[in-house]
Amino acid sequence: MYSPASEPDIDIQLQELEKLTEAILTKYGYDFTNYAMSSFKRRVTMVLKKNGLSTVDQLLQKLLYDPAFFDQFVLDVTVNTTEMFRDPSFWKVLRHQILPILNTRPEFNIWHAAASTGEEVVSMAMLLKEEGMLDRAKIYATDINHVVLKKAQNLVYPGRNKDLSEQNYAQTDPKGKLEDYYQMADGDMVFDPTLIANVKFKHHDLAIDHHFFKFDLILCRNVMIYFNQKLQNRVFELLHNSLFLGGFLALGAKESLIWCKIADKFESVNDSEKIYKKIKL
Ligand SMILES: C[S@@+](CC[C@H](N)C(=O)[O-])C[C@H]1O[C@@H](n2cnc3c(N)ncnc32)[C@H](O)[C@@H]1O
Repeated sequence: MYSPASEPDIDIQLQELEKLTEAILTKYGYDFTNYAMSSFKRRVTMVLKKNGLSTVDQLLQKLLYDPAFFDQFVLDVTVNTTEMFRDPSFWKVLRHQILPILNTRPEFNIWHAAASTGEEVVSMAMLLKEEGMLDRAKIYATDINHVVLKKAQNLVYPGRNKDLSEQNYAQTDPKGKLEDYYQMADGDMVFDPTLIANVKFKHHDLAIDHHFFKFDLILCRNVMIYFNQKLQNRVFELLHNSLFLGGFLALGAKESLIWCKIADKFESVNDSEKIYKKIKL
């Protein structure tokens, strides 16, 4: 019987991770060189064990000569955990404090950077619909990972997540019921496709790619925690360039921009929900 506890520990050195990330960058153009190495090392160890490999060199050989294996590696090495209305108090503040400001504009643009499987995008669409704003929103949802982006466009979520989704939604001062937005099919929640009619899904790597549009609101939540300070600075600059003056940036509950190089170009709008406003070009 499989028992992780009985497996020998795999000791990965920093130099091996550096060799791995450099080789991936050269071969595939994905830049993991500035990911936070402690969590990256944990994920690589997990990939080795999952595939019955015992050294980073063995992994490297498979990665370099098998592009399908590389796609699976990207999926395994990045953390894709997400949920509907994750951190409900954040969505409540968004509803009452930020959306009323966007609502004064004839149209507005929103970017979900690192959107994963799209629960955040659907949550936003429901909120906008309830506030009568969905038709005026132009929305982009991006991620490094093609597999999660595809799932995000399907709008099919496992029924086992129903209770948590409903509990979260109930804490956002909702104007309807979650079940108004989905139908059950084969044990899954299948959401109304009109919710994402204005959403463009696009591959975008925060570590490599540049800004592609200007936004009134950017959500970049629960991804910075996987980056080191150098990459965080790069991403904050990219997000700053992607925002209109007066635009809003929302980070995850455990993230902050106070230590980044361009912190003085933002002011905090809501400290506990990690919402910031661009105040300088
Ligand atoms: C933990 S999920 C966060 C999802 C959602 N934003 C949330 O807060 O629930 C992190 C996502 O970041 C994506 N990601 C990791 N590195 C990335 C990068 N360099 N560029 C864009 N997305 C990245 C992963 O593929 C994953 O879908």
